[in-house]
Amino acid sequence: MVGVIELGYLGLNVTDINAWREYATSCIGLEIAESDQDDRFYLRMDQQHHRITVFQSDQDDMAYMGWRVKGLEEFKTMIQQLTDAGVEHRVATPEETQERHVLGLIKLNDPSGTANEIYYSPQVDVMKPFHPGRPMYGKFVTGDQGLGHVLIRSDDNEAMYNFYKLLGLFGSIEYRIDMPDGAVAQPLFMSCNDRQHSIAFGLPGMVERLNHLHLQYTEFDDLGISHETIRNKGIDVAMQLGKHANDQLYTFYSATPSGWLMELGWGNYMKPEAQEHYKGDIFGHAVEASGYGLDLDI
Ligand SMILES: [Fe+2]
Repeated sequence: MVGVIELGYLGLNVTDINAWREYATSCIGLEIAESDQDDRFYLRMDQQHHRITVFQSDQDDMAYMGWRVKGLEEFKTMIQQLTDAGVEHRVATPEETQERHVLGLIKLNDPSGTANEIYYSPQVDVMKPFHPGRPMYGKFVTGDQGLGHVLIRSDDNEAMYNFYKLLGLFGSIEYRIDMPDGAVAQPLFMSCNDRQHSIAFGLPGMVERLNHLHLQYTEFDDLGISHETIRNKGIDVAMQLGKHANDQLYTFYSATPSGWLMELGWGNYMKPEAQEHYKGDIFGHAVEASGYGLDLDI
């Protein structure tokens, strides 16, 4: 059995591509790399050709997420693993594979219909150092932890868990959150490397596929500058600065030009000896702007 080793790239469909150019660079510090196709641009976080592709679209949602396997042999084994499990998938054409700047590509949907891709060998532009879109003291945490994490829609938590377990992710319920209607939300968090989680799902009431994308800074001051920039621009903050119980990161949640949230963070994660779950966070994370799908009292 092989497993994916990182959430390596994302595709985002956006209705206002120019607003994204401004937000991604000045608010976050990502680097823009132009494409030779008019309908998209790339965002870099490190020396990989790109981590995010932003597409001009008539909708605002995640287009796909890409999971990396170690190499060619793991890629072949993954194809067999999906076939043996009866999971519908297809190996992408050479043109589709080249479009993602990887050497091998599988396309498949999760049980909620979200497009997933599994790939090996991304293009790494070693001759082109990461050049942030605004001055930064440090970098983004990527490397063997991938680009960050996403909180996505789940139509069936058990089916989602089994699907992502087959891809090689591990995890469980990590919060039991009392909701205003008396229900208890029990989001699941799954990991495939040293990042505490690469994917989370199980919040009720989601319509779009993506609730938030999390990116992590190596330097605390870069988080502070992002926070100040976003405040100065009058952009909504859905959850104020606070520290999560599970990944122990100091984060806040800003609205993006697409209406979903960007969780920017900094900190160090210490893994517990065995599974734990939480009723709330360490401090902060109060709801400020409501209606972004995170009106949670944690
Ligand atoms: Fe998050």
